[in-house]
Amino acid sequence: MLQDEIERLARAAEDALKNAIAPYSGFKVGAAILSSDGKVYTGCNVENYSLMLAMCAERVALLKALSEGEREFTAMAVSCSDGEACFPCGACRQMLFEFAPNLKIIVSSKDAIRVFGIKELLPFPFVKPE
Ligand code: THU
Repeated sequence: MLQDEIERLARAAEDALKNAIAPYSGFKVGAAILSSDGKVYTGCNVENYSLMLAMCAERVALLKALSEGEREFTAMAVSCSDGEACFPCGACRQMLFEFAPNLKIIVSSKDAIRVFGIKELLPFPFVKPE
């Protein structure tokens, strides 16, 4: 991936976290997923007073893209309101892996932008039996 594509996706994730609805945790997360045809879909975390129902930014972005008909993805960027590196949770890793096993995960913090492979972050995924 080109450096300017990485930075563009990281900025989209940073912008998306401004829409986060996180009154209970105070922790805002933004995500942006890039489809193979070059479209960007963003997501933010959305919390609910029934606390278990909180939705992660990563899955909001993925579900938005899937529901628009996208099926192939190349990269996702994640950004958090505290400026520290924010990695997708285990549930998001599992779901991202199933739809995009070669996905690049761009983790941006105030200090650096780093790129990982989803397989690096989820070395032993749950997979469908043959
Ligand atoms: N959260 C995300 O949006 N993505 C993650 O990968 C981890 C956690 C959200 C859920 C909740 O709204 C807040 O961060 C605190 O856990």
